[in-house]
Amino acid sequence: MTSILQTLAGSGPLLRDAVQSRNLKVLASMLGPAFRGLVQQRGRNEESTPLRLDYSAQFDWRYRRGEREMARLYEAAKASQWNATSDLDWSASVDPESAEHPLIPDAIIPLVNHPAFIRLSPREKGRQRRCLMAWMLSQFLHGEQGALFAAAQVTEAVPWLDAKLFGSTQVVDEGRHVETFHTYLTRKLEKLYEINDNLYVVIDALMTDGRWDLKFLGMQIMIEGLALGAFGFLRGATSEPLLKQMLTYVIADEARHVHYGVLALQKFYATEVSEKERREREDWAFEVAYLLRNRFLAHEYYDEHWAHALSRAEWDRIVLESEMMAVFRRTMFRRIVPNLKRIGLLSDRVRERYSSIGLLQFEHGRAAPDLTAQDLIDDR
Ligand SMILES: [Fe+2]
Ligand SMILES: [Fe+2]
Repeated sequence: MTSILQTLAGSGPLLRDAVQSRNLKVLASMLGPAFRGLVQQRGRNEESTPLRLDYSAQFDWRYRRGEREMARLYEAAKASQWNATSDLDWSASVDPESAEHPLIPDAIIPLVNHPAFIRLSPREKGRQRRCLMAWMLSQFLHGEQGALFAAAQVTEAVPWLDAKLFGSTQVVDEGRHVETFHTYLTRKLEKLYEINDNLYVVIDALMTDGRWDLKFLGMQIMIEGLALGAFGFLRGATSEPLLKQMLTYVIADEARHVHYGVLALQKFYATEVSEKERREREDWAFEVAYLLRNRFLAHEYYDEHWAHALSRAEWDRIVLESEMMAVFRRTMFRRIVPNLKRIGLLSDRVRERYSSIGLLQFEHGRAAPDLTAQDLIDDR
């Protein structure tokens, strides 16, 4: 009971955040996932979470192949398959607490300038790097499982055959990503964290929504855009060779997925939704952006390591103002905002809202169709 009350108290700001757009339909669609994720904490303390889904699959008996750009992505996907078991050198020994080849530079640890962190021994700092990286990679792993399911759903639901064919390759890709992150976490870092409640809310919301385009919007544009930015940043920041190699492979796959999401939604929003429906998508995307911007505060890692030393409010403030958060925000949102603009979800009515949370500055960046996999690997 105490933990439920604590969670509810902690969810106050989130529920307040959720009315940002003042769109009641959007709020209603988020309430179920928010209740399951934040109050019931259904992603936690369980071996599995059943979720009832309600959406329509569409057969295409004419087998029309009219989407040339998607067909090209499908060919690229088939030619770019890799095998996580044999293409990565799992025999390489990884010292996750190494000071010589640190998993992440200390500079991006949120508490780096806090006396409690400065006082730690070099060995203890190594443990902090390992745990923080394990927290991040665990969230990627859970996101990849969500991506695997979402890719399977949209493959059934999307109306165009070229999109279904591409989707079939994404399902394989995401399965491989789950395998890769899980192997790295369990064999090399020997540490796995549960899913963050707010990430659960976003995944639950897009999985349980019956509209296929919202699954695309939530997964292919928002979560995968965020992952792409985070992977590119971590790939550049880590000195651990196996992790670097693994992220290079994953980024090349994710580049295709985001590109595909932009192609599908650009066409759909330009031709097949009413202005009212487009506005609802625009508000929904903003809510998710807000959640992603403000709510990934590594509480699971805080609870384990720092709850005895500082309050959660103090922790939140330090994380939100940290260099790590600034870098993450910049790298993640420059992979999201230009794509929202490209698919027509950044009209004048929402620009002010993005501007008020510091995200409009990314609108002139390059959208997924203008970026190569190499650009993304190099984090350009
Ligand atoms: Fe993935
Ligand atoms: Fe993906």
